[in-house]
Amino acid sequence: MELRLLEYKSYTYTYLLADADTNEAVIIDPVIETVDRDVKLVHDLGLKLIYAANTHVHADHVTGSGSIKKLIPTCKSVIAEVSKAKADVKVNEGDLIKFGKFKLEVRSTPGHTDGCITFVLHEKGLVFTGDALLIRGCGRTDFQQGNPGSLYDSIHKKILSLPQSFYVFPAHDYTGQTMSTVGEELRYNPRLTKPKNEFVEIMKNLNLPYPKQIDKALPANMVCGVFDVPESS
Ligand SMILES: [Fe+2]
Repeated sequence: MELRLLEYKSYTYTYLLADADTNEAVIIDPVIETVDRDVKLVHDLGLKLIYAANTHVHADHVTGSGSIKKLIPTCKSVIAEVSKAKADVKVNEGDLIKFGKFKLEVRSTPGHTDGCITFVLHEKGLVFTGDALLIRGCGRTDFQQGNPGSLYDSIHKKILSLPQSFYVFPAHDYTGQTMSTVGEELRYNPRLTKPKNEFVEIMKNLNLPYPKQIDKALPANMVCGVFDVPESS
């Protein structure tokens, strides 16, 4: 079972994956504003949410993983070890996040940030690309530890090398598209179809605005989206 959810202020896609036999489930990139919706869905469907996994330390929204853990105490937060963010489980290249009979393979895909990871669900032919590969685009590389050269290599070696039939599910889409495939992005992505030197030039000249929520989101997301404040304060 695979459900796609949208947080429309930051255009973030959250994914809820579950094994229908065991009901074990994983949520990818939950957002703090939509935690109540997501937890209600987990309860309504009778799922056992075991992991809340982030593809990276987001700059454009606060993660919902800390709030989800308060509501579902058995759920563990997951993030890349390289990110240096706080989480119950810190993962590295090749690690497997298991739920029921399924497993998400962790692939390290730095370039948007150092700690960006991509999750591959081989059994179903799905890849969750965070802000590395977007539909007909890619994550920006002008803040955090952005590096266009390493983003280009990450996407080509770790994502576009998958079978062309694999479905691509990114962390965002600003045009309303909800999915793509590896084959489509290999053919039609206007940035990734370019040679590396041209890609780097494009990325250096995007002149994007400063992300609206970055000053709040970055420090919060280093600690699962919840600051450790006493209950009484
Ligand atoms: Fe991001």
